[in-house]
Amino acid sequence: MRNLMVTGGAGFIGSNFTRYMLEKYPDYTVLVYDKLTYAGNLDNLKDVAARFGDRYAFVQGDICDAATVREAIRAYDVDTIVNFAAESHVDRSIMNPDAFIKTDVYGTYVLLEATRELGLERMHQVSTDEVYGHVPEGASKETDPVAPRSPYAASKASADLMVNAYHITYGLPVTITRGANNIGPYQYPEKVVPLFVTNALDDQPLPLYGDGEQVRDYQYVLDHCEAIDLVLHKGEIGEIYNVGTGTEMRNIDMTRLVLKLLGKPESLIQPVRDRPGHDRRYALDVTKIRALGWEPGHTCEEAIEKTVRWYVENEWWWRPIKSGERYREYYRRQYAGREIT
Ligand code: NAD
Ligand code: TYD
Repeated sequence: MRNLMVTGGAGFIGSNFTRYMLEKYPDYTVLVYDKLTYAGNLDNLKDVAARFGDRYAFVQGDICDAATVREAIRAYDVDTIVNFAAESHVDRSIMNPDAFIKTDVYGTYVLLEATRELGLERMHQVSTDEVYGHVPEGASKETDPVAPRSPYAASKASADLMVNAYHITYGLPVTITRGANNIGPYQYPEKVVPLFVTNALDDQPLPLYGDGEQVRDYQYVLDHCEAIDLVLHKGEIGEIYNVGTGTEMRNIDMTRLVLKLLGKPESLIQPVRDRPGHDRRYALDVTKIRALGWEPGHTCEEAIEKTVRWYVENEWWWRPIKSGERYREYYRRQYAGREIT
């Protein structure tokens, strides 16, 4: 397991994972295979291309395109796929689920078939806590049934089921991680934390859905990357591992913390109409990944603090995104007229 194909590696978590693996393993190579959708951005990998030139390569391609996937695997002698490629934003899946079904479901199937046909050593699927659905109390274990409630969550749950089916039917060497909400460098400013931080920096309203009492487990992205690395090397084939801090935070408290860290007033909080089918709480039982030898390196608060600092120091990265017409059009569509006064 030395030549990785990181699909979706130009996105938020995939780019952090690519940098992390190249730094940690001097004898590994990484091929980033990415379609470069609105969320894919080669700026996320600018330093990686400069620092690891000979061990890093990039191919622009769609995971739904079986021929291009196979070509890339052969050309770069790939032995392991780590699949981050996905449409990843719940609100966009509510607006238009089409691309979610194509990429998250069919695309994962294409990668499974390629793994099978070409006899790769491993296909790792990066999944999410959202597949368990709303969790009113307690914490989801890996053995709990999936009960997704948004088109995004349903597309990811479908992929998990297919990955599992390929393991059972064909003995494919697969593993799955189900991560809680990630935050940190290079997260597209549609997700709540980078959206709120960058809006606050510009004294723009922070659109808080509903009553703000929803609960998430905000984990630092590099902790998640460490866990995926551990599962790749020490995880059991065919197994699923939850990854998160195992603690929880209400959205209103996350919002107040962001404002406090930036020295901005709470009057910037703008309550807006709730997300349809909003999952009020996710909570993961992380006993299994801890038993493998992993510990979260940051609390939710520490992860938020580090993230805020990165966005303060890296305007070069997010300003061009937020000022672009594509982003502004999305923002209008998602938020215009949604204010609760
Ligand atoms: P992201 O939206 O930032 O990045 C997704 C990347 O996939 C982009 O670079 C995009 O160009 C690429 N992509 C999309 N469709 C593609 C296709 N058809 N072919 C090839 N590339 C394609 O997402 P992210 O937040 O980095 O999430 C990465 C993975 O982790 C996803 O599978 C997501 O479901 C999962 N996940 C995310 C979180 C989170 O909090 N962000 C938590 C748990 C799991
Ligand atoms: P998000 O970052 O979209 O991740 P998730 O996949 O967990 O929904 O949203 C995190 C939480 O923040 C979720 O409860 C919805 C809420 N939220 C807002 O209140 N306002 C917003 O503008 C967004 C994008 C999310």
